[in-house]
Amino acid sequence: MTVLVVDFGAQYAQLIARRVREARVYSEIVQSTITAEEVRAKRPSAIILSGGPKSVYEVPAPSLDPAIYDLGVPILGICYGAQLMAQQLGGDVAHTGGGEYGRTELTRQGPSFLMDGWPETQSCWMSHGDAIASAPAGFVVTASTPLAPVAVMENAERRLYAVQFHPEVAHSERGQELLESFLHHVAEIPPTWTNTSIIDDQVAAIRAQVGSERVLCALSGGVDSAVAAALVTKAIGTQLTCVFVDTGLMRKNEGEQIEATFTRQFAVRLIHVKAQDRFFDALAGVTDPERKRKIIGELFIREFEAVARELAVGDEAPRFLVQGTLYPDVIESGSGHAANIKSHHNVGGLPEDLSFDLIEPLRSLFKDEVRHVGEELGLPAEIVWRQPFPGPGLGVRIIGEVTRERAEILRNADHVVVDEIKKAGLYRELWQSFAVLPAVRTVGVMGDGRTYAYPIVIRAVTSDDAMTADWARLPYDVIESIANRLIREVPGVNRVALDVTSKPPGTIEWE
Ligand code: XMP
Repeated sequence: MTVLVVDFGAQYAQLIARRVREARVYSEIVQSTITAEEVRAKRPSAIILSGGPKSVYEVPAPSLDPAIYDLGVPILGICYGAQLMAQQLGGDVAHTGGGEYGRTELTRQGPSFLMDGWPETQSCWMSHGDAIASAPAGFVVTASTPLAPVAVMENAERRLYAVQFHPEVAHSERGQELLESFLHHVAEIPPTWTNTSIIDDQVAAIRAQVGSERVLCALSGGVDSAVAAALVTKAIGTQLTCVFVDTGLMRKNEGEQIEATFTRQFAVRLIHVKAQDRFFDALAGVTDPERKRKIIGELFIREFEAVARELAVGDEAPRFLVQGTLYPDVIESGSGHAANIKSHHNVGGLPEDLSFDLIEPLRSLFKDEVRHVGEELGLPAEIVWRQPFPGPGLGVRIIGEVTRERAEILRNADHVVVDEIKKAGLYRELWQSFAVLPAVRTVGVMGDGRTYAYPIVIRAVTSDDAMTADWARLPYDVIESIANRLIREVPGVNRVALDVTSKPPGTIEWE
């Protein structure tokens, strides 16, 4: 039971796909160039056409193979998708030049399948220049707004529906309800895509793929590799061996926590590579950010390969490697989004030429789904709800030379920042919150003595996808308790500053 979300080049397609999944229906994003034959081969239970930044009158503007309307599959067009449906099926789209943006009042006209039980008027979220001026033959107009005479149109016989507003955004009050009535009632898809069904499906798929072979998984301390490993463990138990390379640049207690979770709770065979000394030696005297990244990335790969080679001897050699690839990395979106994320991922990731077959149990999941699956599998909340952490670890937050002492200062400082943010109940709503250690020292006075020590910079940001970010407006009392504790508890720190740079122009990390 799959719903295809056709991407017309907006940021909305991913959001729509996620909303469909929140309605407990599996969804996949496809490019707008998909043909009717390709759609038929995927046997979707419904199709949703996303919004997009273009006008249907622009040349070129993305279109849809018109034969798709004749497949008998229920279709919901949203915004650009609605206008395209109107235009392709013989209605009129007016190139208004004006438009409606933001909260708009929607007025109903007559009975509707999509809006059954809704009041006469309802607020919805609009973002359109053009508008459908007249609906194609066979469609009934069931709602309008001041500048969109055809805000909703329905062809119940062919099960084709179109809405000008954006039901996928939270500002459209009944948006999710509308999507659910399309999915559950119009398309008659039952809500069966649940965490349990995801786990059961993946467990079966992993068993089928792996058979009695052995599997290797690199744990990074992050959410994705942990959930992937937990899933694989559920599927094949002791056939899995996990490798955790401690670079010396991990967060406080990260190694212990991994060890406790995977060896004690999941009884997985875990190889804990204590490579701290080798990383610090390799980083001695290096201050250039790009060189640091390169050294950390390459050494990580070498350490992992050494373990893989050792294990590769004899009949027990692992044939498969687990990767925590997520759906957003897989989607080929026109926005360049995926490409950008990947350039980051090659640091702290594994080389592509390792001679393993890949297992990617999270390939179809969004991050929030991964977290919920992780919870369901019994992983501790501290792992499942962890904020993202860069592959090179604390290395990109220690400005200047990375030494054991400076890594220890930053690790302790980072722990204080995160601990206070958690106590204030802000940890989950922030994208990231951490400490940065600059390469300067400042003069201070403590007790009767002069100090000459490092400042710590507090970095906390809100973001949806790390492509853009805003500095978090932390309450003053939270900043104060962080600052007090940093000075009191972390030797080597005598001053605290707050980073108030958004992205752009800044990046989230300092290096
Ligand atoms: P920036 O600093 O570019 O970071 O705004 C965006 C997001 O990516 C994370 N990040 C990395 N993740 N390897 C990773 O796996 C890296 O080399 C890397 N560098 C940055 C960063 O923490 C933020 O979430």
